[in-house]
Amino acid sequence: MIVTIDGPAGAGKSSASRELAKRLGFRFLDTGAMYRAVALAAMRRGHDWDQAEALSDLAQSIRIELTDSQVLLDGEDVSGKIRTMEVTSLTHFAANNSGVRRRMVELQRQAAGTDNVVTEGRDQGTVVFPHAECKIFLTASPQERARRRLLDLERNGEHVTFEEVLARQTERDERDSARVDGPLRQADDAIEFCTDNLSEEEVVDGLARIVESRMAAT
Ligand code: DC
Repeated sequence: MIVTIDGPAGAGKSSASRELAKRLGFRFLDTGAMYRAVALAAMRRGHDWDQAEALSDLAQSIRIELTDSQVLLDGEDVSGKIRTMEVTSLTHFAANNSGVRRRMVELQRQAAGTDNVVTEGRDQGTVVFPHAECKIFLTASPQERARRRLLDLERNGEHVTFEEVLARQTERDERDSARVDGPLRQADDAIEFCTDNLSEEEVVDGLARIVESRMAAT
């Protein structure tokens, strides 16, 4: 069974999807981590961000592997290094690059194989797994999402203001929704789930109920 969880940044997708996968005994794919890893690889090589084709070539040449808890870039665990503000602000170059997206879609399908998976991203229900048995679109208000992102960044030791986080989030939302390939969009057959005012546990409980009802129906 494939469960796709798409939605904007900060809706609580990562932690809830990871926890949901654990609860169901499914594998977990954090597909945003892959785009972040491409950006990190390019940043380390001093990539010229105007060179879209070179970025696409780079994405074909590096090895990105996802485990349930780590992302490996050419064998190195970069799970923490891909979450800095610098990498976050450069990741759109990877996410908006059609060649990079084609490669990531291929890797995501390979990674899922024939296992039961919970996969989280922007285009999982629309592009990568259009035949997924259960599709969820997770949302939250912009303020709530920025507040959560701020907490994450602070935990990572970064000092930023709420306003900065909100402004960058709005910019990312616009970019995510406007791109030609794999834009952030709710699949027609996805169930929308708003996480405002819910604890993480309540979100996971709600998601598990949706998956269980889909399982019962298939
Ligand atoms: O979910 P996240 O913040 O880790 O995602 C990082 C970036 O990658 C963000 O700009 C959206 C993009 N992304 C994407 O384009 N497609 C996905 N399937 C997952 C993430």
